[in-house]
Amino acid sequence: MKAQATAEASPSLALVKYWGKSDGPPNLPATSNLAIGLDTLRTSTTVVPSQRDAVTLDGADQPLAPFVPLFDAFRKLSGYNGSFTVQSSNNFPTAAGIASSSSGFAALTLALNALLETKLSDEQLSSLARTGSGSASRAVYGGFTRWEAGEPWAQRFLPAAHWPQLRVVVAILSAGKKPVGSRAGMERSKRTSPLYSAWVNHAAELFERGCAAVQARSLEHLGPIMRESYLTMFATMFTARPPFLYWIPESVALLRTLEELRSAGVPAWETMDAGPQVKVLTTAPHVEQICQTITSVVPDAQLIITPVGGAPSVLDGAGSVG
Ligand code: DP6
Repeated sequence: MKAQATAEASPSLALVKYWGKSDGPPNLPATSNLAIGLDTLRTSTTVVPSQRDAVTLDGADQPLAPFVPLFDAFRKLSGYNGSFTVQSSNNFPTAAGIASSSSGFAALTLALNALLETKLSDEQLSSLARTGSGSASRAVYGGFTRWEAGEPWAQRFLPAAHWPQLRVVVAILSAGKKPVGSRAGMERSKRTSPLYSAWVNHAAELFERGCAAVQARSLEHLGPIMRESYLTMFATMFTARPPFLYWIPESVALLRTLEELRSAGVPAWETMDAGPQVKVLTTAPHVEQICQTITSVVPDAQLIITPVGGAPSVLDGAGSVG
C-alpha cells in the first residue's frame, strides 16, 4: 500500500440522459446514455490510510454513508482492514447541478485503486465508481463515453480529440441547493410519472441517433437529439406526484434566447440536468457571441467554457508502506 494517493477527474455531462434505474444492483441505468467529460472542471481527491473513515469536500465534513460501500468494496478487494481519510476539492461550485458527484466518485475510486495498488481494470473501476454515483461510471474515462441500459460499467466511445472544435459553455445561474436530489428525483419519476415508460422506451432510439451524430461530428443533428433527451426527461419530473421543477426564470429566459440564436444561424444547443444551470454545446468560433448573449440576458451568470476532455490523472504518493 502507498502512503497516500491523489486522483483528478472531470464531471461527466450527459448529451443523452441517464434518468431512472433498473431493478437489482445499485445505480444500473434504465436508459442508455451518452456523455462527454468537461475538461476544465476538475475534482481533486487525496486518500490516506487512517484510523477512522472521514471525508471532507472543499474543507467541509461530509456524511459517510454514501462512501461506505465503496470503502468496503476496496477493503475486501485489497485485504486492508483499516480506514481512509479523504480530502476532495472542486475547482467549480459544488452542488450547483454540474454533476460533481460524477467527478467526485470517479476521482475517489481512482485514488483508492492507486493507494491500495489493487490494479483494477477499466471496467472494474467504472463499475465501482458507479456504486457511488451512476454518472461516475462515465467520469473514470473522460472523452466521449457510452453507458448502455442495465450495464454495470460504462465504456469509452471516442477520444476527446475526435471533435476538437466542440465547446461547452456552462452557465451557472444559481448556486443554491436543489429542491430534490437527482437520486430521489429519478426514483419519483419512475414510481409516479405516467410518462416514465414512454421516456424509457424513447431513450433507446435517442441513444443510437446521438451516438451516430457524435460519430459524424454533426452538431446540427446532435443538438435536436440532446434537446429531445433532456426535455423528455424533464417531462417525467413535471408529471411526477408531486411534480418537481429545477428550472428558474433565468433558465427559461436562456432557453428562449438560445432558440433565437439558432434561428439566426448560430449553433447553440442546450442541455440541462437536475438543477437550474444551462449547458450550451457549440463550436469554438461561436463561443464569444454565445457568452455575450447569455450575459446580456442574465448579467450575474457565471460562465465556464470547456472543450471535451477530462481524462483522469493519478499521482501515487511517495513510497509504499506495509
Ligand atoms: C440528470 O449519477 O447523480 O445528471 O446514480 O443516483 O448517483 P445516482 O445519480 P446521478 O444522476 C445523474 C442524472 C443526470 C443525467 C446524467 O448525468 O446522465
